Amino acid sequence: MIKLAIIGTGGMANTHANHFQKIRGVKLVAACDVDAKRVETFADKFDMPKRYTSVEELLADSGCDAVTNVTPDAYHAEISLKAIAAGKHVLCEKPLATHYPDTKKMADAARKKGVIHMVNFSYRNSAALQHAAQMVADGALGEIRHVDAHYFQSWLSSTVWGDWQTTPAWLWRLSSSHGSKGVLGDVGVHILDMAGFPVGKMKAIHCKLQNFKKAKGNKIGEYKLDANDSAVMTVEYANGALGAISATRYATGHKNSLTLSIHGTEGALRIDLDKSYDEMEVCLGEDRHKAEWKTKKCKPTPNMYQRFATSVRKQQNDQPDFARGAEIQKALDACYLSDAEDRTVKL
Ligand SMILES: NC(=O)c1ccc[n+]([C@@H]2O[C@H](COP(=O)([O-])OP(=O)(O)OC[C@H]3O[C@@H](n4cnc5c(N)ncnc54)[C@H](O)[C@@H]3O)[C@@H](O)[C@H]2O)c1
Repeated sequence: MIKLAIIGTGGMANTHANHFQKIRGVKLVAACDVDAKRVETFADKFDMPKRYTSVEELLADSGCDAVTNVTPDAYHAEISLKAIAAGKHVLCEKPLATHYPDTKKMADAARKKGVIHMVNFSYRNSAALQHAAQMVADGALGEIRHVDAHYFQSWLSSTVWGDWQTTPAWLWRLSSSHGSKGVLGDVGVHILDMAGFPVGKMKAIHCKLQNFKKAKGNKIGEYKLDANDSAVMTVEYANGALGAISATRYATGHKNSLTLSIHGTEGALRIDLDKSYDEMEVCLGEDRHKAEWKTKKCKPTPNMYQRFATSVRKQQNDQPDFARGAEIQKALDACYLSDAEDRTVKL
């Protein structure tokens, strides 16, 4: 039995608890949040016997084997490092941290301690994405030449997810002093992983970031709204392919849309997660001369929570691990530098 603790009991923690609850051999034993009322409500909801407002106490007292770190981005490094030092396996939310040196420290510490360490790039739950990685690795598309991907949200220009102006979970995401790295750190991280997982290592990146004025003085209460709202990147991959990748919270008309298309010398594939997680469209072989696409159903894949539980059980780390989280963080750091200096940054 894997005894699991959840640290940070806000919105996303519900997704973690709902998934882990369904996995045989995993028991939710403890919850922790700096907000005492929230942790009680959450622990009651998921029938978790132990509740804490201090991570140190949780690690010393709860008897857990593993933790999931679902706190805001700014706390990922500090809390994960404490959990690793206490010998706990860690599933950490994305982005792995807010700066590359911290993510490197986390990856090194976890490897040295021998604990399972994974980062929740949750779109790896898509069977189509897993199949895309296999197709590229098998050479089914030939040599990869062009990649196009976007992550579109619209919570700044709609109320699809409520009123951002009065919701702390949205407000901290707009404020760099609250540890946010903007849309790039929040969801740009997902789309960079989603494209790079099949296509491979990135060699260089150029990025343009934009922060739009959206409140008087661009401030609401304690939140200075200075983090980026839109990001447009061009990526050069080690295999020579070029990628156009974007992320925005102003994609009016889209709730949470991710698409990826990969074009090679022998074929192409495209994934649209609004349409399906399990299907992709492919244009292969003779079809490419007519630019005709067919729908392909992909073999089911375990979700991130199942992968983490299996890794702990087998004591064998699965992907995406902290090293992958660090690799993506390096690209994010390069994006901020690229935007500040308006130049391409080598990785
Ligand atoms: N993988 C995904 O698809 C996905 C989706 C949504 C959110 N996330 C990530 O999950 C994390 C949490 O996001 P959220 O939307 O649940 O945020 P949230 O603001 O709703 O919840 C965060 C919780 O952490 C608590 N917290 C803050 N500091 C803490 C500390 N030091 N110790 C313990 N608890 C602390 C807060 O009180 C709050 O209850 C973020 O890193 C976010 O990027 C990932």
